Parts: sequence; structure tokens; C-alpha cells
Amino acid sequence: MADIYKANRNVFALSRRFRRSGNVASPMDFGILVAVTGVGRGWRVIEAGCGSGFLTAFLSNSVGQEGRIVTYEVREEAVRIARSNLALAGAENVELVEGPLSVVEHEHPFDLACLDMRDADAALPGITGALRKGGWVFVYSPFMEQVAAVHRAAGDLPLKNIVTYEPLVREMHVDDRGTRGRTQFLGQARFLTFAQKA
Ligand SMILES: C[S@@+](CC[C@H](N)C(=O)[O-])C[C@H]1O[C@@H](n2cnc3c(N)ncnc32)[C@H](O)[C@@H]1O
Repeated sequence: MADIYKANRNVFALSRRFRRSGNVASPMDFGILVAVTGVGRGWRVIEAGCGSGFLTAFLSNSVGQEGRIVTYEVREEAVRIARSNLALAGAENVELVEGPLSVVEHEHPFDLACLDMRDADAALPGITGALRKGGWVFVYSPFMEQVAAVHRAAGDLPLKNIVTYEPLVREMHVDDRGTRGRTQFLGQARFLTFAQKA
């Protein structure tokens, strides 16, 4: 696949040098997150789990110096890797907390909550309470059963505009024989669910 990101010295290019522990967010996931929520300069974001900090780094870059991200991670190894990735990205607007997600320790409200963790549906009531009106919750789910659980939980909460996407991106290959999609494409079994505080 062409290294389109090498052409641009941005956080996506930088993320190719990040270390990984487990699944990580991809640039296309982040593109959809920006398109749906409008996350940008000055936003306050709460996130769990941080994992290797890929999504955190993208968010850090988008909210800028005026914005703030507090992110939680329970695994010690992931915290170490995320800290080194976030240092590489110069993400000074990020507070990485080692431990389980907690919405009570921080000043509310948040503009955006990102949940990339098991049992996100159970965390939904608390996280919804910590959002401003019109703020967004974003849930990454590796399984469809989790998507259904999140939709069910969201239905009982003051959330609207609930939608799930499966991102699939395929680069085209052009040569003398013809033009077709590459046989390998940038797809992961990941579902992106969004809901907005009513
Ligand atoms: C798939 S990874 C996140 C990847 C991350 N979005 C990235 O782009 O690098 C999910 C992480 O959630 C963490 N986790 C699970 N439950 C958690 C909780 N209640 N609070 C904080 N972190 C949690 C796991 O340890 C794991 O590292």
C-alpha cells in the first residue's frame, strides 16, 4: 500500500512510529469521528481505555493547546507504551491516568467521551451524565453483540442521533493489466457507534 502518510508530516505520519499493545484506532476511524462529532479546537474529552494512545494522539492534535484530554488505562504495559507514544507526539494537553475509567474525578461537562473498552454499555449512564448538552459519546466495539448492547443502553438514556458505522477503505491499484481494488484493504472488525446528548 502506498505510504500516503509519509508525504505529510502530521500526527498520522508520526503514528507509524508508535509502539502498539493490542488493537489501535486507525486514521480512517478518526476521520469518521471528526466528521460525525466535529471534535476540534478547545474541546474537552474523556477517554477509556487509552491502550497504546493512538486515538489519544489524534484527539490531542485536534483539540490543540486550548483543549484537554483525560484518558484512563488499566494495563500497566499499555500505560508505558502510551506515555512514550504521547511524548513522541508532543501531546502536552493529555492527562493519562493509570486505572479504571472514573467520571467523578474531573470537572464536568465534557464535549466528547470515547469508550474503547469492554462493557462500554455499562459505562454509558455515568459517561452520559458527564457530557454537555449536544456533546457526543463514541464507542468502539469489536463485536456486533456489543453494538446491540450499546444501542439498548443508549435507548434508556438522554441520547439521540444514535448511529453505528463499519469503516471499510480500499485503495485502488492501477497498472497496465487494469484497475481494481487492492486485495488487501484497510478494514478491521470494528464498529463505531455515536450518540449525542439530548
Ligand atoms: C483496544 S484498546 C484501546 C486502543 C486505543 N483506542 C488506541 O487507539 O490505541 C482497549 C484498552 O482498554 C483498556 N480498558 C479496559 N477496560 C478499561 C477501564 N474500565 N478503564 C480504563 N481502561 C480500560 C484495556 O486495558 C485496553 O488497553
